[in-house]
Amino acid sequence: MTAAAPARPARPADLAVRAAEPRPAPTVAAFSKYLVPEVVFGWGALSEAGWAARRLGAQRPFVVTDAGLVQAGWWSELAGHLAEAGLRGTAWQELTPNPKDHEVAAGTERYLESGCDVIVGLGGGSVIDAAKAIAVVAGNGGQILDYEGVDKVTAAIPPTVMCPSTTGTGADVSQFAVITDTTRRLKATLIGRALVPDISITDPRLLTTMPDDLAAATGLDALTHGIEAFVSRASGPLTDVHALHAVELVCASLRGTLDRPEDRAARTAMAQASLEAGLAFTNAILGATHAMSHQVGGLLDLPHGVVNGVLLPHVIRFNARSGPDRFVPIARAMGVDVTGLPADVAAEEAAEAVGRLAADLGCPRGLAELGVREADIDTLAGTTLGDACLSTNPRDADHADVAALFRAAL
Ligand SMILES: [Fe+2]
Repeated sequence: MTAAAPARPARPADLAVRAAEPRPAPTVAAFSKYLVPEVVFGWGALSEAGWAARRLGAQRPFVVTDAGLVQAGWWSELAGHLAEAGLRGTAWQELTPNPKDHEVAAGTERYLESGCDVIVGLGGGSVIDAAKAIAVVAGNGGQILDYEGVDKVTAAIPPTVMCPSTTGTGADVSQFAVITDTTRRLKATLIGRALVPDISITDPRLLTTMPDDLAAATGLDALTHGIEAFVSRASGPLTDVHALHAVELVCASLRGTLDRPEDRAARTAMAQASLEAGLAFTNAILGATHAMSHQVGGLLDLPHGVVNGVLLPHVIRFNARSGPDRFVPIARAMGVDVTGLPADVAAEEAAEAVGRLAADLGCPRGLAELGVREADIDTLAGTTLGDACLSTNPRDADHADVAALFRAAL
């Protein structure tokens, strides 16, 4: 993206907003700002959680998690690590997948009455988004949907430590949180630097207790993050390197984690893919796949990564029609031999490779199998236009374009 008025530093949220303005053909950013938390990565990294919380001044950590993580023993292990650092954590787990506005309200109430001072998220994207949302409301008051949009969080929020247990979220490093608005039945996106966690702890061991369907769905989400970040209007050299590497890691390792669940190298590669995809998309933002997927997920409470897997090949084809060049390195990163191929053919190869991977992982062939009906498309297309992720899609898309994409993916 070219800087029109470099009088003050550009922020990623600004970049996303400015990307929505009329502009020449998409280009790589001339400059960019790169937001990241402190990152602790590697096998066994969860043991650092107590000291991480201590570095943030914790006396009483409030741990947002879910029943699956508790059952798998991770909360118990984390409580032990907190104790090693002299801390006693309080766990809260009243959450469902795709966290709801009223669950955030309940969690905030519990946090405020607990007297805790640091929020730790232990779980997948839903848990981490909910943990962020609780921090936002605890520090700013009101309801979580008051903060929908870009940079609406203005007051300080409690420090946060995030420990992801799936491979798709990226929320542990991102400036995003997605919360289901149960009244409007859509997913509301919050964006801003206040939502970047203070410390991210990625321990690939946590991935070993994921059910296969979750590993497949969240792996496809990581792939989508990498591809959408790479072609985003707000992409830049620092995001490109992570985006492409994430795509390469997912395509080389995701099938392996399902065939060989105990394969430590494959799990570590997927954990790194998720982390790198997160570093890319939090700074480059995303695109039409996510803008559309958020609406489907809000309407039908479906696994986010599965919806992405169905939509992504269609969005690649749509975007490639106006600019196929950026899909050539993507196809290469996916392991496709594109030597000598014109860019539009390479882009089609990339779309087909995504479709094959999604099919191999058990994704349905279309949205209809997930419960989306022709009658839903007009509403879904309308709400997609209001999603912040659409602003960085490399090709402009109006209501008719988005409706056509939904129809093609049905
Ligand atoms: Fe995603």
